[in-house]
Amino acid sequence: MVLHVSLPSAEEVKQLAKGTTLVGLLRATSNLPLLERLAKRGVDVHSLELLPRISRAQEMDVLSSMASAAGYHGVLMAAVRLPRFMPLLMTAAGTVRPARVLVVGAGVAGLQAIATARRLGAVVEAFDVRPVVREQVESLGARFVDVGVEAAETGTGYAAQLSGEAEEREREVLSRHVADADCVITTALIAGRDAPRLISAEMVAAMRPGSVIVDLAAEGGGNCALTKPGEEVEVSGVTICGQTDLASRMATDTSQLYAGNIAKFLLHLVRAGEVRHDLDDEILGATCVVRDGALRGAAAPASKPAAAPAAAEQ
Ligand code: NAI
Repeated sequence: MVLHVSLPSAEEVKQLAKGTTLVGLLRATSNLPLLERLAKRGVDVHSLELLPRISRAQEMDVLSSMASAAGYHGVLMAAVRLPRFMPLLMTAAGTVRPARVLVVGAGVAGLQAIATARRLGAVVEAFDVRPVVREQVESLGARFVDVGVEAAETGTGYAAQLSGEAEEREREVLSRHVADADCVITTALIAGRDAPRLISAEMVAAMRPGSVIVDLAAEGGGNCALTKPGEEVEVSGVTICGQTDLASRMATDTSQLYAGNIAKFLLHLVRAGEVRHDLDDEILGATCVVRDGALRGAAAPASKPAAAPAAAEQ
């Protein structure tokens, strides 16, 4: 068995013997040629981003571990780039008002970003298309922005895609809040699709110079139209952070969390010293993308990204 963090190199693939089981965060559906090479070598593959969002799989959920780190680190990145304090300060020289932070997408990364920004003393607003998160946002001391659009959750626990019209309405309402914010942290993702474009170039132009956008959806193309994935750019005085390696910047803790997740996965995969190939199991059936020399599950040739049901608008 070979446990990997992300993709194995071509050299590593050549060294994998027939019958090996490879486990890692392999972004399987975006790396089909690699899976085909692994299948040809007779390697069985489990890709951990495909873990189902069920209670039993929570302890193995590597995406949650990495998203927590990204949400936390994203706020710290914004804090050091902002030309102002995060908290309210009362000084002899006068009162400094707290920074205003807007978090778009309140899943794992977004909630961690809210909590971190609140700990730093910022005034935080947040929005998500899943109405269920309103209470979570408010319990962290942030205000939930009522945009008036909602999306259902898919069977796998992810948000469904909004209709073009609903997305337009979201941009319209968000534009006022974006213009008012010193810092915008975007984390909105739709499983199997490009990240929704929620912050347009016009919205960036309306922000105060010195403001910061941290686009945690950069790996999926970005929630901001001006994000350059992997880079940090400045447009009309606004810094836009599109770095995609935030979890790696906290390698001590993220390595430990990843190791914990993968250990829990192994305890499920291996029974009595043998790798289980029980593909009827809800967890193993979802993560297994290569078995007996063929691509399967989410990587099977006929398989398409989970169809997102049309969003229900309010
Ligand atoms: P994600 O990374 O796929 O998406 C991030 C957030 O963006 C989500 O909250 C989504 O609703 C939101 N979003 C999508 N489109 C949007 C739009 N147009 N505007 C604003 N927001 C938008 O999701 P993440 O953070 O990985 O998880 C979401 C939820 O799934 C968590 O809050 C948790 O409840 C659940 N979960 C359950 C797990 C389990 O039970 N094993 C493991 C991980 C997450």
